[in-house]
Amino acid sequence: MTSVAERIAGSATASTAQSLATTTCDTDLAEPTWVFDALPTYGPGASVADVIPAETPNATRRPGQLPLAYQKMSEAELHERIVAAKEKLGDKLVILGHYYQRDEIVAYADFVGDSFQLANAALTRPDAEAIVFCGVHFMAETADILAREDQHVILPNLAAGCSMADMADEESVEAAWEELAEVYGFDPAVEIDADWFERNPGVKLPVIPVTYMNSNAALKAFCGRHGGIVCTSSNARTVLEWAFERGERVLFFPDQHLGRNTAKAMGVPLEQMPMWNPRKDLGGNTEADLDVARVILWHGFCSVHKRFTTAQIDAARAAHPGVQVVVHPECPMPVVDAADAAGSTELIRRFVADAAPGSTIAIGTEVNMVNRLAAQHPDRTIFCLDPVICPCSTMYRIHPGYLAWTLDGLVEGEWRNEIRVDPEVATHARIALERMLAAAPQPLTGGAR
Ligand code: 13P
Ligand code: SF4
Repeated sequence: MTSVAERIAGSATASTAQSLATTTCDTDLAEPTWVFDALPTYGPGASVADVIPAETPNATRRPGQLPLAYQKMSEAELHERIVAAKEKLGDKLVILGHYYQRDEIVAYADFVGDSFQLANAALTRPDAEAIVFCGVHFMAETADILAREDQHVILPNLAAGCSMADMADEESVEAAWEELAEVYGFDPAVEIDADWFERNPGVKLPVIPVTYMNSNAALKAFCGRHGGIVCTSSNARTVLEWAFERGERVLFFPDQHLGRNTAKAMGVPLEQMPMWNPRKDLGGNTEADLDVARVILWHGFCSVHKRFTTAQIDAARAAHPGVQVVVHPECPMPVVDAADAAGSTELIRRFVADAAPGSTIAIGTEVNMVNRLAAQHPDRTIFCLDPVICPCSTMYRIHPGYLAWTLDGLVEGEWRNEIRVDPEVATHARIALERMLAAAPQPLTGGAR
């Protein structure tokens, strides 16, 4: 994970990197951040009207909006409040920030990392009573599941969700499970406890459910109850190896691309990876398709990573001979195949850090991270593969206004925007998450060089 000094140095020169991009998916994005934030669709309080995922814990007592006073505060005032609150709270507070967070948030984070690293990070701060998670909803839920009973997890803006995570819900996964149980001849209601595999060495289950970290807690609990596991983009390969040792096949949700890219890199042929569309009978498959299936891929995707294309890679290679291309495995398969390396946000960071000065790197992932990497490495040419800037709009909902408001709450003894996963759900989800934490990350293709 990057140091605070590195991150602040990166933030200070971010404008150099911004100038590399010319067009945006929303013309408002061309404005400097603090102008942009004042616009009605993106600024503090802008997400108040958004539909918050139904599964959001504490749905009944979630606060409605960012108080007006915080919406009106200047950048300097918010900065003073955040710094003062951090000082007062000391070791009782830990702020976690995902790589996709904007620089104005990253600058205050004690840890910046990918989903796997952040799931581990809070565990290294046993004195922290409050874990403020600057990321998205499923990350904060995971932190709560893994945290001690007396630790509190705060998501500064509860509307910071993930559109991909919302593409699989408990009801449709349960329905798919029942259909698969009929095809493969198992009882869908049977639960597999945490030690089942130790007690039954060598026995393979018909289907192992694997959920990507980008899913709600109920789906992680589903995996925990049915002999399954959670993966992140950094350890998806290790997780699939774990699953193939214990099952005939895998039901992988919600991201079809991570599932396909990982299984393909392991040698699974595409014909053995049918797609499961939850709106169709048998997911849109025949029994014959499912008979040969090794990985059944849920019909989910990330709208940010889906934008990357092989044409962009061709254009980058034509314009910059010798360019190295590194992409996130949420990108479609042809893009991952055409890249030099693919892996988690942490792998992308290392790829750039390890590249020789003077090298040129085109990156296929969220633009806030790309711009920060460009600013931190001015001796390398670094740009986003997509010439049209398109940030993860839900990550962007964590604005310093929300951070200041939730931190002030902690100083006043109030848990604002706390994420509490139902204890029953958490118990089962923890089984699948602990299996995930034991599965070491490894690159999907290529790697830092
Ligand atoms: P990482 O686990 O690679 O940080 O990815 C999380 C994510 O949401 C990517 O879109
Ligand atoms: Fe979700 Fe995509 Fe944003 Fe990642 S980048 S949090 S997958 S919407």
